[in-house]
Amino acid sequence: MNDQLTEIAAIDLFCGAGGLSLGLKQAGIEIVAGYDLDPACEYPYTQNLKADFVLANVGDVTGEDLLKRWPEGKIRLLAGCAPCQPFSSHRRGADTSDEVNWDLLSHFARLVEESMPHLVTMENVVRLGKMPVFDAFVAKLKQLGFHVEFGTLYGPEFGLPQERRRLVLVASRVGQVQLPVGNKDKKKFKTVKQTIGKLPPLAHGESHATDLLHTARQLSDLNLKRMRASRPGGTWADWPKELLSPCHTRKSGASFKAFYGRMRWDAPSPTITTQSFNFGTGRFGHPEQDRSLTLREAAMLQGFPRTYRFVKKNVRPSMQAVGRLIGNAVPPAFGKAVGIAFRSQVIQSAEASR
Ligand SMILES: C[S@@+](CC[C@H](N)C(=O)[O-])C[C@H]1O[C@@H](n2cnc3c(N)ncnc32)[C@H](O)[C@@H]1O
Repeated sequence: MNDQLTEIAAIDLFCGAGGLSLGLKQAGIEIVAGYDLDPACEYPYTQNLKADFVLANVGDVTGEDLLKRWPEGKIRLLAGCAPCQPFSSHRRGADTSDEVNWDLLSHFARLVEESMPHLVTMENVVRLGKMPVFDAFVAKLKQLGFHVEFGTLYGPEFGLPQERRRLVLVASRVGQVQLPVGNKDKKKFKTVKQTIGKLPPLAHGESHATDLLHTARQLSDLNLKRMRASRPGGTWADWPKELLSPCHTRKSGASFKAFYGRMRWDAPSPTITTQSFNFGTGRFGHPEQDRSLTLREAAMLQGFPRTYRFVKKNVRPSMQAVGRLIGNAVPPAFGKAVGIAFRSQVIQSAEASR
């Protein structure tokens, strides 16, 4: 590598609302452009990242398209998080033979081959690490001359106030990049209280006057009673019998213990999903207010700053659409850790070659 090259410029495939890009930017990496086929990503991506958004199917993008965007004289990083639904554990056992999305990772590999960036990073659900499609991705990078490292990162060890585990891959053809190492000291883990404890309180069904993302979904009378009967960190097994529904009392209901629960103040949150505003789909009850999480709280537990904008000012966000952007995001904390690892490797390589 030219030893003058120490600045990194990234293109983000499947960029979503920009979680991965934001983390890379926080590490000092320039964000050039994000590619996604969902038009709802354009506003948050361009507003917050101040980078180009390209509305495109990654399957149709070519290496030449990417090469035209990367600035001259910078180290090229290709980042991406292909949609993870096809790999999620809830699909275990399902017939996924017709999943067209499975080959999106192959398109990522194709774009690496066609554009030959200096650095590559990929994030996805942990289970992907055991799939042949991932083995093929790693084999392709190695064949192209990349040094590849991958493993599971645990969010709280990287300052994320959320128990999220993700498969993270880093690859470099300009030196040996190491997977970031987190801080395992549980006393240092960021809690729900430290993250959302100062947001203005709301009743269920109520919205904050100026931040419409801070809106609590209306609860039915039955769910309000259930919420009141829930204790932080508990399950529906704490409720009186009359609040249970048939699915709770069926033997199989035991596997859904985490549904309809309240978060604890003093620990990281459970994994934030696309439905984190919905009391019935996880432990998404507020620790002490009788309501489920707002989208703003879900975004902050994903590691987005309070000022991150997902929709235009004064536009009421769709819970489903913005919940999807937030739940699908790569927590910026992972992107930042990866960005720092890349920067220190690049600086070391430049120093070694002087
Ligand atoms: C897991 S999310 C990525 C999240 C994003 N990296 C972030 O940190 O916010 C996957 C994204 O892939 C997008 N997507 C799915 N299929 C695509 C395709 N064929 N081409 C481009 N984007 C696609 C989805 O719209 C979604 O935003």
